[in-house]
Amino acid sequence: MITQNKGLFHLSTKHSSYVFYSNDWLQNLYWGSKIHGEDLTYLIKKREHSSFDQNLNLERDEYSFWTGASYLESCLKVNYPEIRKLDMTFLEFKIMQVNKDLERLTFCYKNSFSDLYATLTYDVYEEYDIIARYVEVLNEGEEVIIENFKSASVSIPKLSDYRVKYLTGKWAGESQMNDLHLTTGSFTMQSRSGNTGPHFNPAFALDNGTAEEKTGEVWFGLLGYSGNWQITFEKTIYNNVKITGGISNFDFTYTLSKGESLKTPVMYFGFSREGYGGMSRTLHTFEAEQIIRKREYGRVLYNSWEATGFQVQADSQKALADRAAAMGVELFVIDDGWFGSRNNDKAGLGDWYVNQEKFPKGLSDFIRYVKSLGMDFGIWVEPEAVNPDSDLYRAHPDWIYRFKGQEPYQGRNQYTLNISKREVKEFILDFMTKLLSENKDITFIKWDMNKSLTDVSQGKTSEDKELWYKHAKALYEIWETLRERFPQVEFEACAGGGSRVDLGILKYADQCWPSDNTDAYERLFIQEGFSYFYAPSIMTCWVTDASSNNLRKYERPYSYRFHSSMMGVLGIGADISKFSEDTADEFREHIKTYKEIRKTIQFGKQYRLSSVRESSLHAVEYISRDEKEILVFAFHQGSQFGKAEPNLYLNGLKEDGLYNIEGMEENIHGSTLMKVGLETGLWGDFDSRLIRITKIN
Ligand code: GLA
Repeated sequence: MITQNKGLFHLSTKHSSYVFYSNDWLQNLYWGSKIHGEDLTYLIKKREHSSFDQNLNLERDEYSFWTGASYLESCLKVNYPEIRKLDMTFLEFKIMQVNKDLERLTFCYKNSFSDLYATLTYDVYEEYDIIARYVEVLNEGEEVIIENFKSASVSIPKLSDYRVKYLTGKWAGESQMNDLHLTTGSFTMQSRSGNTGPHFNPAFALDNGTAEEKTGEVWFGLLGYSGNWQITFEKTIYNNVKITGGISNFDFTYTLSKGESLKTPVMYFGFSREGYGGMSRTLHTFEAEQIIRKREYGRVLYNSWEATGFQVQADSQKALADRAAAMGVELFVIDDGWFGSRNNDKAGLGDWYVNQEKFPKGLSDFIRYVKSLGMDFGIWVEPEAVNPDSDLYRAHPDWIYRFKGQEPYQGRNQYTLNISKREVKEFILDFMTKLLSENKDITFIKWDMNKSLTDVSQGKTSEDKELWYKHAKALYEIWETLRERFPQVEFEACAGGGSRVDLGILKYADQCWPSDNTDAYERLFIQEGFSYFYAPSIMTCWVTDASSNNLRKYERPYSYRFHSSMMGVLGIGADISKFSEDTADEFREHIKTYKEIRKTIQFGKQYRLSSVRESSLHAVEYISRDEKEILVFAFHQGSQFGKAEPNLYLNGLKEDGLYNIEGMEENIHGSTLMKVGLETGLWGDFDSRLIRITKIN
């Protein structure tokens, strides 16, 4: 609910309050556990220290327009042909109900000497304790250059400590959880590689150092953006903590002519009173209900990549498809290698016509075969890149990013296409439209991007410096058009593993590939990090032969691999054509079980019971929306003689409820399962168990 009283705005959600004061600029007074709010007027007073720090309230500015007198990270800086301050004058505010879930508050500002307008939006999702913020600038006057453009900044209440949790990573090692305690100064997470990036994910959680899985207050934020982004944490000498997020300042400017406008990505902020577990469950529900397209469930897929690499001949794929169908796979996906002269990563990327040698009877014949086995069909594409050794590059060497007169960088033998060029965007839309209309039975696209952007901007002209932004914008426009044209097609976002996971791409993607590291044990770390901010229903996990073909091979029992991969949207990536009947039967059984329980996994409430980073026992619990089905995946990495194994304490059950554990005769109360716990019986190396529990009453 949004209320306004004497310049005080109170954005109250189910469990939180967000209060700021509007005079001619907006000053944050409070964000945290729910309060009355209207009595915060006593906080409105002048705060100064000396001539060096004349206005300390500016440290809690909701959106700092660069005026020449602010020293923290600014949110909007505009360069005029003549040097002038950005003096924004408040024009009006509006409160409106957008739909049953969303109330909106907007503030419109106008520059005092030119027709430049900035509209700040606060979208309040009351049920989820989430506030989404973004800004749109409209220029009705002379041409201006935007030099810095952020979605929002927020202030944290004064705490005894500020611990930030955030994800870092690299190829095949994404989504690793980190802790950092803020000290006076600043800390920036960012991507300068043109995509969301593996190095940092645009999401954070913050507490006073004492919050845990089940308890404590947690403030969190996620930026919905798949281009160059930046989130900066600043802790001042006066113990004000401000977090500013939006488009990266790196190599960025944007020229706005008369009549043009520019919008920031959306930054989502939220609050949890139930620790990190509460935060994740809120986010999972919010994503499922407000961000991701609705679907009944994610299908069990087979993907050819780890089994056959680039060698995707129709015959060998048919052998895989036979086996996959017999195991209960629902969606057969051909990965890289089906097009042009793509026999390795050195050639063919960009030539989006079917390779006749690999598919002598055409792709449609192969799709018919897959359909006849009762499976759906999906296919891999990487439209933003091109091999120098390709017909596309030979015909259009000017379509890639390059510095004048210099050889561009290659990564995996490829260049990146400048998709903001009209003709490149049309080329991508045309070939995708042709592929999907000629093959109406393609219902799944895995969209990959295997190189960071390079050679994008020479940093000289403003036009150059718009390219990073325009790449992400063009990508969203292409996905939006394709989704409109082909609503029956699901999209998976992939970028050499997990470099494109964020709430921006999730407006278009149905699921994401978190990492090329498919080792079941290593995945537990990646999946745990992922689970803090992103829902299980978007996390694709494959059971493979051992691990990604570029990594070391590990041996884990198949049941362990399945249990690890069942915690999201299950897929198979092993070379199943080589399996014995016994192994194929084992796979069939696991897939059958997964189908019985997947709705609870994908859309239920998730509880991290024991962290893989902290204990030899790792366990994750899922409770169905109707609370009748409870699932626990428990993993044990290795036994140590003489070391007692920890019990498994369940969470989220009804204290007085009675529960039946599969394989046990007596029913047990919720309080007992949560306080006495279960002995897992796990032993040895890489043992695991799926515990299925039913609520009796
Ligand atoms: C990337 C993806 C893999 C696979 C290969 C194909 O690395 O993450 O899953 O699709 O590309 O080249």
